[in-house]
Amino acid sequence: MGLPSQIAVVGAGVMGRGIAYVAAVAGARTTLIDLEQAQLDDAVRTIGRDLTTGVERGKVTPEAAEQAKQALATSTDVRAGCAGAELVIEAVVERMDVKHQVFRAAEAVAADDAVLATNTSAMSITEIIACLEHPERGVGMHFFNPVPKMKLCELIRGLQTDPATMDRAEAAARAMGKETVRVEDLPGFATSRINALIGNEAMRMLEEGVASAEDIDTAIKLGLNHPMGPLEMGDLVGWDTRLDILEYLAGTLGDRFKPTNLHRRMVAAGRHGRKTGHGVHRYDADGRRQDTTSA
Ligand SMILES: NC(=O)c1ccc[n+]([C@@H]2O[C@H](COP(=O)([O-])OP(=O)(O)OC[C@H]3O[C@@H](n4cnc5c(N)ncnc54)[C@H](O)[C@@H]3O)[C@@H](O)[C@H]2O)c1
Repeated sequence: MGLPSQIAVVGAGVMGRGIAYVAAVAGARTTLIDLEQAQLDDAVRTIGRDLTTGVERGKVTPEAAEQAKQALATSTDVRAGCAGAELVIEAVVERMDVKHQVFRAAEAVAADDAVLATNTSAMSITEIIACLEHPERGVGMHFFNPVPKMKLCELIRGLQTDPATMDRAEAAARAMGKETVRVEDLPGFATSRINALIGNEAMRMLEEGVASAEDIDTAIKLGLNHPMGPLEMGDLVGWDTRLDILEYLAGTLGDRFKPTNLHRRMVAAGRHGRKTGHGVHRYDADGRRQDTTSA
């Protein structure tokens, strides 16, 4: 299989909507699923806006954009949305129990030989796919944020994953325009492990008053040549999701991943980043940065 003809993406948050975008642009019939109708409405709006930008920048042809709009459907029901899908990509919250619930529901209705993939940032693929009747069809497909722009899809092999499932996931990721790396199933894989550590240290520096948020971001961009500062990166990822990731990594890899008190308080206050309009920095409804820095 190259591109599966029918793809279901479960979870219409920061990542699910980006994955649905690349699946639909590649030409798959794509169903985006979320429990919240409001999330789906917002996702469809974002995807429409990204398609317009893609056409303006010459990244997507007007025909492909129109075809992608036609190819995209939404559902608030995991079973209805995953029915007959050849590839299911789960992008719900970073919680094992929720991922198990989604995987069991999806497997029951997807095509008999469907690949069942998780976009988890850090958690054990082996443990996620252990809930399946056919765990050999389970795999990690870790996309990056923002999905339309970022070139990588990290492929993670669970202990039970069949080599043919890895090959099919790789072919699908490439058909969606991504380059791939193959990684063994260890917490945080090859990417989140590093990214979470850098972001956590930046938050610790902010808490200690080393410099302003603006200056920490500028220092890392201009001094270390990172395309984004670690605090604006946390705003993009979502501090709620980042907190779940750090807690998992602290539990599996050790205390160096332990989240700061400032981070916990920001999440408790609803300052989750771009998606809530306020994290370390402030954003407007379209995710554009406002001037005020407020952590
Ligand atoms: N944010 C990032 O930069 C990033 C990058 C790579 C991977 N990830 C991973 O992707 C996954 C999703 O992260 P996100 O940032 O998109 O989260 P998010 O909080 O933005 O979105 C999660 C969505 O899942 C929905 N949801 C929750 N339970 C559901 C269920 N049972 N059925 C259907 N929908 C359900 C929520 O309503 C929400 O819309 C996580 O595993 C995360 O670790 C995130």
